[in-house]
Amino acid sequence: MDKRILKQLSESFGDAFYILDSAQFKKNYAELKWEFANIYPNFNIAYSYKTNYTPKLCKIVNDFGGYAEVVSDMEAKIALKSGVDPYRIIWNGPYKNFKSAEYLLALGVTLNIDSAAETKFIDKLAKENPDKTYNLGIRCNFDIGDGVVSRFGFDIDSAEFKDALALFDKHKNLYFKGLQCHFATRRLETWRPRAEKMLALIDALKIKPDRMDLGGGLFGKMADSLKAQFDGYIPSYKEYAKEAATLFAERYKDENDKPELIIEPGSALVGDCMKFVSKVVNIKNVRGKDIATLLGSIYNINPTLNKKNPPIEIVAMGGKQKDYLDLDFGGFTCIESDYVYRHFNGKLAVGDFAVFGNAGSYSIVLKPPFILPNFPVIELTDNGAKVIKCGETFDDLFKTFVF
Ligand SMILES: Cc1ncc(COP(=O)(O)O)c(C=O)c1O
Repeated sequence: MDKRILKQLSESFGDAFYILDSAQFKKNYAELKWEFANIYPNFNIAYSYKTNYTPKLCKIVNDFGGYAEVVSDMEAKIALKSGVDPYRIIWNGPYKNFKSAEYLLALGVTLNIDSAAETKFIDKLAKENPDKTYNLGIRCNFDIGDGVVSRFGFDIDSAEFKDALALFDKHKNLYFKGLQCHFATRRLETWRPRAEKMLALIDALKIKPDRMDLGGGLFGKMADSLKAQFDGYIPSYKEYAKEAATLFAERYKDENDKPELIIEPGSALVGDCMKFVSKVVNIKNVRGKDIATLLGSIYNINPTLNKKNPPIEIVAMGGKQKDYLDLDFGGFTCIESDYVYRHFNGKLAVGDFAVFGNAGSYSIVLKPPFILPNFPVIELTDNGAKVIKCGETFDDLFKTFVF
C-alpha cells in the first residue's frame, strides 16, 4: 500500500477501513471453476453467501453463472435483491423459517432438507399445495475420517434419511434436485471420501440426480506467513479438483447424462480479496512489553478468534519510527485478549497504518456491534475510491433498541 493513497483514503473514510479487491475475487472464481471443470465439465460453483455477502461479490457470482448458496431467508433476500433468479438459489442450513420457506419454494428456490422437522414441513406443504411444484434436495452426513461428528444433514444410514427420500415417491409435486453434503474441515484428504461416498450413495439408491453438491471447506490463497501457521498442508484449487472431480469424471465417463457437480466455496474465493487498514493510535510499554493500540480489533478481521497472525504490512506515515522486537498489536475493545497481531518485529511509529491481509472471509459478516460500529468497505478503482459499504453509524445500530 502506498502512503499517498492511504493519506487520501483516511482523509475521506477515517482511520480504519476495509479495501475490497473484486478483481481478485473474479480471478479466484474463474480459476477454481476452471480447475474443476477441466476435469469434469458439468461443474458449477455455489458461492457461500455467509462468508462475505457483499452484494458486489454476489452479483459477480451471478454474472459468472454461479449459484447463490444461502443458509437463511435473510441471505436468500440478499440474493434476490442482487438480481439472482430464485432457481439459482440453494438454501442449506440447519434452520429454515417455514413461513419464508413456503414463499421461497414457491418462487423456485431449492431447499436442501436438513432434518426430520423439515421433512414433516415439506410433507404438509406438498399435500396442501398440489398445484405447486417445489425444488428440493437432501443434506447427507457420513464419516469422512476427519474425526468430527458433523451436525449437518441426515445420517445416511438413518430411518430419517429414508423418510426424507420417501417424500419424492409420495408427492408428485416435489422435484428431487439432488444430494448435498458439507464438512467444515478443509484438509485435502477429506475431499476424496466426500466424492466417493456421495457417488456410492447414489449408486446404492440407483438414482442419478440433477445435482451432486459437495459443500464448502476449501482453503483459499494465502501468504506463506499465514500458511506456516496451519498444522497441515494448504492445498491448491487444482489439488482439490483432482481429488473430487476425477471421481465424477471416471464414474460418468460413458454416460451422456451426467449430474452437475457443485461445490460451495466461501473462504476459498473471498479470503484474500479484502484488506483491513487500521491506524496505530498509541504505542506503550507495560513492564517491558511493547504494545501498540490500533483503531481496529480482532473482531474486525477474525471474529472466530483463531489466534493466527494475519499477513501484515506497516505503512510509515511520517512519524519518527523506532525499532521494535516482539511488539503486540492490541485492538480498541476492552477485551484483554483482543490482539490483532502478536510478536511483531520491525519499525513502527504512532500514526502509521497497519494493513492486514486475508480479511475477506468471516470478517465483516461476523463483526459484532461491540464497542464501535463497523468501518467502511471501499474499493480502489481507476477513478478513485468507491464506497462498497458505508461506515456504520450509531443510528444504524441503535434503531432497534427502545430508548
Ligand atoms: C453449507 C455450507 N456450505 C459452504 C460453506 C462455506 O465454507 P468454507 O468457507 O469453509 O468454504 C459453509 C460454511 O460454514 C456451509 O455451512
